Amino acid sequence: MAKFILEQSVDRYLYDAIPRRDALLTEMEDRARREDIKIVGPLVGRLLALLVELTSARRIFEMGSAIGYSTIWMARAAGPRAEIYYSDGDPQRARDAQAYFRRAGVQKRIHVQTGDALALLRNSRGSFDMIFCDVNKGQYPAAFRLALPRVRRGGLFLADNVLWSGRVSDRARDEATRAIQQFNRLIYSSRDLFPVIVPLRDGVAVCRKR
Ligand SMILES: C[S@@+](CC[C@H](N)C(=O)[O-])C[C@H]1O[C@@H](n2cnc3c(N)ncnc32)[C@H](O)[C@@H]1O
Repeated sequence: MAKFILEQSVDRYLYDAIPRRDALLTEMEDRARREDIKIVGPLVGRLLALLVELTSARRIFEMGSAIGYSTIWMARAAGPRAEIYYSDGDPQRARDAQAYFRRAGVQKRIHVQTGDALALLRNSRGSFDMIFCDVNKGQYPAAFRLALPRVRRGGLFLADNVLWSGRVSDRARDEATRAIQQFNRLIYSSRDLFPVIVPLRDGVAVCRKR
């Protein structure tokens, strides 16, 4: 279970304030809690859906999709003509995700791919309206370098966990923390991006490509 950066009571307030999810998302949230599968959860799921709707994103690449929880939020928001690329290194998670996609009725708009998400993105074609990065945190700087040229102008590059339970502001810096700090420096120093880090849950980087 991810630790949160907001005061716990404020965090609880936000979770209590949002509408209930449907039975499928609720089941996935329960499973993620039980099995300690890291998912963005409903606060960030709603943010992803909002950003998809605001930008009319249709062609979306997700790096690190696990059981497909965030994928379903984006796929529903993007509509039937969407083309969403799921990627995860764990084939069992991909099989589980496919079963959830069928149940959500969004399987036709999702391409499920297994393997290293960075390699899969490198081998994919065309540009994307949105790329969402949620892979191992040590890979964030490399993911940034790979993803940036693949986002269309006016499109979005997003990344989860960029405040890393607040550890980004610590002196003690493990490898993952250092990689996220480097990632945050990269997005803010890029002349191609207009980034905002939204301090929701564990921090979400929302970057518009100019
Ligand atoms: C935080 S979870 C993704 C959660 C998902 N985005 C959600 O919110 O529902 C990270 C996932 O990325 C996968 N992963 C980590 N690094 C990866 C990589 N380089 N390539 C492919 N998958 C990766 C892990 O197997 C794990 O399932």
